[in-house]
Amino acid sequence: MQRVLRRAVALAVALIVTGAVAAVALPEYPADLFLPSTSCGCHGGLVAQWEQSMHAKALHDPLYLYKLEKANEETDGAIGPFCETCHGAVAMMAGEFPSREFSPQGGEGVTCSLCHQITGRQEGRIGNTSIVVNPDGTMRAQFDDAVSPFHETAFSAFHTSAEFCGSCHNVFHPGNGLDLESTYTEWAEGPYAEEGIVCQDCHMTPGPGVTKPNPGTAAAGGPERPHIYTMTFAGGNVGLGDAALAEERLKAAAEIRLTAPEIVEEGSDVPVVVRVTNIGAGHYLPTGLTDFRRMWLEVVATAPDGTESVIGTREFHTVFSDGDGNSPADVWNAVAVESDDRIPPRGHVEEVWDAVMPEKGPLTISATLYYRSCTEEIAEAVGVDIPTTTMASVTKAVYTSQEEAAAAQRVAPDPGANTMLLIMLIAGLAAIVAIVAYFAIRSRRA
Ligand code: HEC
Ligand code: HEC
Ligand code: HEC
Ligand code: HEC
Repeated sequence: MQRVLRRAVALAVALIVTGAVAAVALPEYPADLFLPSTSCGCHGGLVAQWEQSMHAKALHDPLYLYKLEKANEETDGAIGPFCETCHGAVAMMAGEFPSREFSPQGGEGVTCSLCHQITGRQEGRIGNTSIVVNPDGTMRAQFDDAVSPFHETAFSAFHTSAEFCGSCHNVFHPGNGLDLESTYTEWAEGPYAEEGIVCQDCHMTPGPGVTKPNPGTAAAGGPERPHIYTMTFAGGNVGLGDAALAEERLKAAAEIRLTAPEIVEEGSDVPVVVRVTNIGAGHYLPTGLTDFRRMWLEVVATAPDGTESVIGTREFHTVFSDGDGNSPADVWNAVAVESDDRIPPRGHVEEVWDAVMPEKGPLTISATLYYRSCTEEIAEAVGVDIPTTTMASVTKAVYTSQEEAAAAQRVAPDPGANTMLLIMLIAGLAAIVAIVAYFAIRSRRA
């Protein structure tokens, strides 16, 4: 029964053989060695979290299906099994491709009983679904004292490691070995790995950043635990994943600092320095499918009459090229990285652009960082609503003279500053009254 299924490799390799080939192979297993999430009722809260995640949607995700169809069209169906092994490991092991007549569990993509029956990873390079699965009915996770009337349980240190995620969150070309997605490697080579902050700490906790501890019960009737993980796996997918959680993560990922002189003479250049720092992502920003995602910075100068001019833009993503040197190339045709402009974990990029000072200020400069899961063209072609998320934005006003700046402050006083003034005035008055009263009482006693 455990005959190794090498069809996926064989086909992908037949497609583009250019070098060393990493094995993409999972054994065959009948679907009934896995359970659908509907049988995980005791973990109701966790099931509801997972249902919103991209893991639950990995096989029916319209953007995935769109790319898969294109990939299969261009390769005569050869590349499909490579994609499906990772997006739908249970269905692949159960032989439910290419018919796509899924069992309930097979159709669930990256599902509970797949992850919880992973026991380690295959030898060699981490990635391309390098998981080892042992569907013996034992559910493995981080507790060594879990007891269930419905299944065996076991402690698994592997589940607490980033390597667990890395088996699927590193993708390289099955033919030529080129890195296509390197989230795990980016993390492993960055500061978070050194500090022991793993994927789970940011993607399986309630808030953005490391929101630990998160006390609760992992199962109905189970003990109250000082910390349990969530099965949310929220990333940046606002359109198809849990919108609120994804938005929260995108907004916590980057910080913009904008520096410009306050006073610039009419007609002169206004040097605008914009720095974008990756403050929240444990890997490069963006990460994953970075040829497909869109993240861009836009710096705009707005004159008092409302005239806007874009003074600078920068796109953060990866462009692949194919064997004929054409770019952008789709991942299945990619043989080289043509360009890769992204921000390392805790790293920053900085750029200087010039605006021109109009006759009259204020010239309002704004720098905004945007994110989309895919281009508008693709979203439209697929027929899905993929919003643009503002990750971070800052503005600064520039004036032609000190007088103009002072006048602007008088015309549009900061309401916050006014309230502060009022509070200080009342506090001051109260203090004077108290002091007068104190001396009055003292002098009367004396
Ligand atoms: C992508 C893989 C993956 C999927 C899918 C997944 N889990 Fe988990 N789960 C984990 C990992 C990893 C941990 C342990 C995290 C750690 O300790 O760092 C965990 C922890 C748990 C725990 C222990 C308690 C807790 O919350 O920390 C339970 C129970 C659990 N998962 C149930 C489920 C159920 C039920 C589903 C489906 C609705 C599910 N898991 C889906 C990977 C997964
Ligand atoms: C069996 C393979 C597999 C494993 C193991 C796995 N993932 Fe995933 N993960 C996927 C696939 C496939 C997708 C993309 C699904 C889609 O968008 O169609 C995904 C998507 C995600 C996303 C959503 C990205 C977005 O765009 O919002 C996050 C976050 C994520 N995974 C985190 C994790 C973490 C953390 C772990 C380890 C605890 C993990 N994954 C383990 C296969 C896996
Ligand atoms: C310090 C917190 C932190 C750690 C550690 C971390 N991430 Fe993330 N991750 C984020 C944030 C914030 C985002 C949203 C910004 C973005 O898209 O990069 C994100 C986004 C993602 C995405 C979606 C990318 C996209 O644009 O579609 C995936 C997938 C992902 N992370 C997987 C992982 C995996 C796998 C690991 C471990 C190897 C990991 N993350 C470690 C914070 C973290
Ligand atoms: C080894 C695992 C793995 C393999 C193989 C794989 N993917 Fe994915 N795929 C992922 C992960 C992980 C993500 C999420 C990364 C992110 O959010 O950037 C993803 C996300 C996607 C998305 C974005 C979905 C969305 O909703 O935004 C598309 C499209 C996609 N994959 C298509 C494919 C195609 C086509 C293939 C085959 C050529 C393929 N994938 C092979 C792991 C894999």
